[in-house]
Amino acid sequence: MSVAMSDFSKTRYTNIFTTPLITHTWEDGPELNALLRERILAHEAQNRGIAKSNHGGWHSETGQLEFCGDPGRRLVDHMHALADEATRHVLAEHHKEIPSIPWTLSAWVNVNRTGDFNSVHVHPGSTWSGTYYVDAGDPVDPDKGTQLHLLDPCQGRSTTFFSGGECSVPASIYIRPKPGLMVLFPSYVPHLVFPHKGNGARISIAFNLRKEPFP
Ligand SMILES: [Fe+2]
Repeated sequence: MSVAMSDFSKTRYTNIFTTPLITHTWEDGPELNALLRERILAHEAQNRGIAKSNHGGWHSETGQLEFCGDPGRRLVDHMHALADEATRHVLAEHHKEIPSIPWTLSAWVNVNRTGDFNSVHVHPGSTWSGTYYVDAGDPVDPDKGTQLHLLDPCQGRSTTFFSGGECSVPASIYIRPKPGLMVLFPSYVPHLVFPHKGNGARISIAFNLRKEPFP
């Protein structure tokens, strides 16, 4: 057999240092979102909010969604449940036992109206970060929506490894907001939110879960 005809059927191919991304749509989303939306807009009307990665838009205080009452507590439980599930999955891939991990959770609400956006950032000092969508904001382009854009956290890979021309592999991905959808990713993953183009308020709830002890 010539070199060119080598048998590759037993060649092992694997990915190393991968970046997990978890997406989950909660079944109680429609009911939960109606309750959350009402509480969020009422709180927004009474509070100026704070400035972080948001350009325009309203960014609530950071906490445990206290101003959302029972629906907020239910969503916080969902955040914990998905983080536990994602962690079990990550550790199982490395044949690790699944310990019970204590998390420190912080969450806040973003309300973006037409033109509002969030510039590229990471969430330092946390393990998992995520977003839950309450309202997509009636986007002008419903097929795309106002997307969340996640960037490859490995600069070497994204700038030198099949990073241009016909042979390039994606260095970023786009996620279309959908009410009830929860997205979870490692906190070191850079991300941004495009300027909203829509007839309604785009309402999302961002959160961090910090493994204790950290890291
Ligand atoms: Fe963020």
